[in-house]
Amino acid sequence: MELSLKKVKKTIAEKGYLKLKNISHLTSVKKLEEKVLNRLNKPLYINRPKRMSNNLYIAKAVKGPQINLPHYLHKKILNKGYGHYKNYTNSITFNQPLLNFKECHSLVFNEKVMKYASIILGKPAKLGFVALSCLMDNKLPKNDINYLHTDDISNSKVVEKNRLVKFTIPISTNAKYHNEYHHLPISKLKLKNKIKQYSDLNEIPKILKNKIVSPKIKNVDGMFFDPDNFFHLAAKPKKKIRIILYVVYIKEGNYLVKKAKNLKIKKKEFLKLPNHFKQFAKFLKKV
Ligand SMILES: [Fe+2]
Repeated sequence: MELSLKKVKKTIAEKGYLKLKNISHLTSVKKLEEKVLNRLNKPLYINRPKRMSNNLYIAKAVKGPQINLPHYLHKKILNKGYGHYKNYTNSITFNQPLLNFKECHSLVFNEKVMKYASIILGKPAKLGFVALSCLMDNKLPKNDINYLHTDDISNSKVVEKNRLVKFTIPISTNAKYHNEYHHLPISKLKLKNKIKQYSDLNEIPKILKNKIVSPKIKNVDGMFFDPDNFFHLAAKPKKKIRIILYVVYIKEGNYLVKKAKNLKIKKKEFLKLPNHFKQFAKFLKKV
């Protein structure tokens, strides 16, 4: 069913999330999953992750963004393979997903999602960032994304030119539904500091905790969310690694344009794209 454009805009503004059903095919997702699982043991494709371990950091330190942790995972640990290094870090991302994982192109260059992103942003959406990320099942403590947080840590409204929307697609096909993403559908501006950044669910008032939703998403679906204005978290995987693809939609003039310019795509692939996707991917580095 087509969603009315007005409703799309309103839902994101008021609730901060919107599920889109049937935006891709299971075969495309499975192909990507297969390649990811294969490359988990090829450190060449992995951004060096931050080290996490029980005795290295106190809970307070791991509550903040993982990016602030001072220690990287040693190459020796990474080289021992996924089965080993997953016990030292809670997540890894792959470098240059558009170059190294051609399988994600059909998911990133998606007509329907791009159309809705443009409606949400009120201007033609541009590709701001793509992240192919894997959350590890291990016994390490929770950290940043496992706590309730907003990506923008200020308590003010994001300036219009920097307004963005994230789109997430579950890539792991081990379950029929995925509902590990938890979201409080109340704008942070309405919460008047009732929730601290990086809160445990037990730390927030019950009345708000009861409002948290965990949308059920299938592998062929995806979900928009506004990470800057709405509190959210991704639960730590319990049994198996979880692979997620994130696509960030921005407008011209967003501070993330700088980051988008570091995202590479093969010139040959770029030239094959229809014109509207060339416009969409205009900030990318063509190599
Ligand atoms: Fe986040």
